[in-house]
Amino acid sequence: MLKGKCILVGITGGIAAYKICELIRMYKKNGADVKVICTPNAMNFVTKLTLQNLSQNEVYVQEFDVKEWKPEHISLADEADIMVIAPATANTISKIAQGIADNLLTSVACAFSKKIIIAPAMNCNMWNNETVQENIKKLQSKGVEILEPESGFLACGYLGKGRLCSLEKIFNETVEALSYSQKLAGKKVVITSGGTIEDIDPVRYISNYSSGKMGFALANVAKEMGAEVVLITTKPFEAPYKIVKVKSALDMQKAVEDEFETSDIVIMAAAVADYRVKNQAEQKMKKVAGVNETLTLELVQNPDILKCLCEKKIHQLVVGFCAESENLLENAKEKIAKKGCDYLIANDISRSDIGFSSDDNEVTILEKSGKIEKLEKASKKVIARKILEYIYE
Ligand code: CTP
Repeated sequence: MLKGKCILVGITGGIAAYKICELIRMYKKNGADVKVICTPNAMNFVTKLTLQNLSQNEVYVQEFDVKEWKPEHISLADEADIMVIAPATANTISKIAQGIADNLLTSVACAFSKKIIIAPAMNCNMWNNETVQENIKKLQSKGVEILEPESGFLACGYLGKGRLCSLEKIFNETVEALSYSQKLAGKKVVITSGGTIEDIDPVRYISNYSSGKMGFALANVAKEMGAEVVLITTKPFEAPYKIVKVKSALDMQKAVEDEFETSDIVIMAAAVADYRVKNQAEQKMKKVAGVNETLTLELVQNPDILKCLCEKKIHQLVVGFCAESENLLENAKEKIAKKGCDYLIANDISRSDIGFSSDDNEVTILEKSGKIEKLEKASKKVIARKILEYIYE
């Protein structure tokens, strides 16, 4: 099940550390390459020798134990497909949430760009501590998966929530997260992002507030899920997949249509201008006193790219976005019917904590069939993952 995968196991200083010996065996038995990092406190509960024998690899504790040219916290983070921190103490959880990198484990977590699973274990009062809970929520909003502790008799003598969840649960979640990375393998996903730019003259233009962030998050997550990604964007962005930079709605339409036939999923996250200037001036327009005290621009409608795609789609799944400042659901229902797309992702742009330029979003997914699913507020990355998983399912 785990052949070819490299799992980085992080162990912190809690009594449940001894249980992780068995988890390492489970990973190994299923073919994974396992690397173990312990905090110095974890060494009070398990020995390096035991972990070394079970993982059949060196066990890392101290930073600056450097054997290669590349710093260990960077090479360990680069090599692994997933990081599983279990048991995770309140101290390590809070440090990771705040970006503190004061030992090898927290440094690796800070440099880790792939999936992190955290299985906390601690005294029930520590688990219920407001700051610890805030830090847990912060990590969740960044896409870290928290496997909640169970209730029961705790090693400290208390009865309550704080026991490490079962090893089977940690194992199954690891397998699930690793298989997620292949869910869109073999699929071509085309995503548009940013607001289009409609020139008035060589100096001025009409555009909108779209930052492109939601489209970037979707493209990155689609890539993580194994898809061949094409991002068509009006905003500058660098990523390890094909990026087509466009400006106007007409440019965007051409770029999308060029990719459409061979694509499996098209997501129109861009804010396409509904109108462009009818007669764009070739030279900079001048104001002349007494001649053009007022100026009227004549606008013509741009083609509706999404609607055109829906009219000619064959096997493709077409997903639209819907930005509304009032009556979100009513307008979204009307829009999905009018455009004919398979899914419509509706978001409320009147709220300053989500939507344009924000790093967070809260959306409602509408399906052609009439089904509606609300996704709670989270980072755009988490929302992107949920949207793509929803479509995949
Ligand atoms: N869209 C498009 N071409 C356009 C306008 C919009 O492809 N000319 C797409 C957007 O990328 C988005 C969806 O249509 O996926 C809905 O965009 P939105 O701006 O919410 O709706 P409009 O169709 O522009 O309708 P209105 O402005 O009247 O709300």
